[in-house]
Amino acid sequence: MPDLQMDMTVNGRRVTKPAGPHMRLLDYLRDELNLTGTKEGCGAGECGSCSVFVDGKLMKSCLMPVAKADGATIETIESLAQNGNLNFLQRAFHKTGASQCGYCIPGMVMAATSALRENPLADVEEIKERLGGNICRCTGYSKIFEAVEIARDVINGTLPATALDAPGAGESYIGNNVRRLDAPSKVTGALRYAGDMVMPGMLHMQVLRSPHPHAQITSIDTSAAEAMPGVACVITAADVPGEDGFGVFVHDQPVMASGRVRYVGEAIAAVAAEDLLTAKAARDAIKVTYEDLPAVFDPEEAMRDGAPVIHDYALDNIVKHVPIRKGDVEKGFAEADLIVEETYSTQPVEHAYLEPEAGLAYVDHDGVVTIVSPSQNITHHRHMLSKIIDKPIHKVRFIMSPVGGGFGGKEDMIFQGMLALAAMKTRLPVRLVFSREESIVSTAKRHPARITYKMGLKDDGRITAVAFAMISDGGAYGMSTEGVMRKAAILSCGPYAIENVKIDTYGIYTNNTPSGAFRTFGAMQAQFATESHLDICAEKLGLDPFEIRKGIGLGGRPADLARP
Ligand code: FES
Repeated sequence: MPDLQMDMTVNGRRVTKPAGPHMRLLDYLRDELNLTGTKEGCGAGECGSCSVFVDGKLMKSCLMPVAKADGATIETIESLAQNGNLNFLQRAFHKTGASQCGYCIPGMVMAATSALRENPLADVEEIKERLGGNICRCTGYSKIFEAVEIARDVINGTLPATALDAPGAGESYIGNNVRRLDAPSKVTGALRYAGDMVMPGMLHMQVLRSPHPHAQITSIDTSAAEAMPGVACVITAADVPGEDGFGVFVHDQPVMASGRVRYVGEAIAAVAAEDLLTAKAARDAIKVTYEDLPAVFDPEEAMRDGAPVIHDYALDNIVKHVPIRKGDVEKGFAEADLIVEETYSTQPVEHAYLEPEAGLAYVDHDGVVTIVSPSQNITHHRHMLSKIIDKPIHKVRFIMSPVGGGFGGKEDMIFQGMLALAAMKTRLPVRLVFSREESIVSTAKRHPARITYKMGLKDDGRITAVAFAMISDGGAYGMSTEGVMRKAAILSCGPYAIENVKIDTYGIYTNNTPSGAFRTFGAMQAQFATESHLDICAEKLGLDPFEIRKGIGLGGRPADLARP
């Protein structure tokens, strides 16, 4: 199909640049006009990060075909700060600190602008309602609502404009509010995340992923993809020159599946092409044949004799077992007046940061392989990548781009290796931006856990013994499982001093999406079980749940032995 002839007004300027017929308004603004303050979070009209005004009406630009915007007047986040001066709303967001990772903030500012344009006297309930189409994963909403209320009052004259001024740190930063240095770039959309970055001659990457949870790859045919016009390269595991493995503790995950796939969504091959559409078409032209293998999805089943083995070096499917022993647990149970045993379970959780995974790689004039990505662990990534691409460490460089939400989920090096290999093969810059679906399917989740908790107590609430066993689904690769199991074991009994304990935490390989780092790194699962169990024990003993904790917090010893 021929390009569309566009004629629209964008931020006060007439624009006639043609658009691809497939483009959404979001693509046109970002890719053709370089207005990258408008972000893509979900691509499905749910998160609001792509909010813009079309003929004065707030719209989600990911849902609007660009053809429908022909003749329209568009306002993006870049239009709000005049001559570089933040407007009242942007200053209010800066004042209240309503910008953590900042990825949602341009969309929030646009939605807040719409709210106050629609009703300059909107109360906080109406503001909440009007911002209901926008999601923030890290600032929390209260500072955002507070900012909109302050801006409303300044605009209406019920607060002086000085209410937006910086308070000043006085003689000390301690005890005073200090403004974020990076907030102006976030509230104006000027901050560039990895997916916003562009280099001359840049290629676009797409990744072919496994539809099978466990299978032997019997063939990969990339010839049709490689022959397509505009395709610069196709890479597979065969392109890895060094030691093919990464992971936070055990380097068991190949850059792309090497002979065997172990979960749905695992990368098998990647294409770098001149444009995104060609990269997608070439990805779909790669032919892979598989032989299905028996799969296991439940960690307890994976621990049984005869279960499918996920990795040949771990025939028992155990990633990590952490045992802790203290005192004499049987004696402790024998001394108890009451023994309570329960089982607790927690589910996998997706990080759902608003910025999907993205990165850009290039080989510089000195042959240094450079990766720009929102990595939470660039030093470790650099060391792993140097082994993978078989280059000395001084020939590998990582640049940490702004992280649009991480929560532990960007600690694993799941795509940087593919980018490096493609940049080395083509000697051109290569960029990869995950779709939301790809991010959900292929990246690590919080470890789901099943915990058996046995506690012995005296009638007065003192704990005599604890036996704690946690079985966690580590998924197909080790990632952070070892560390998560260690922390869960160490924190299994919470802050309480208990004389007799028997603790076991197990991280287990299965054919599920790998589990990885997530806020609290294993402590949440253990604490959920501990605190739920204490509530049940307190009820059974007829004690106040707070008092029982106070007693244990003093060392699990009689009150007269506790420190004042
Ligand atoms: Fe809202 Fe990070 S500041 S998602």
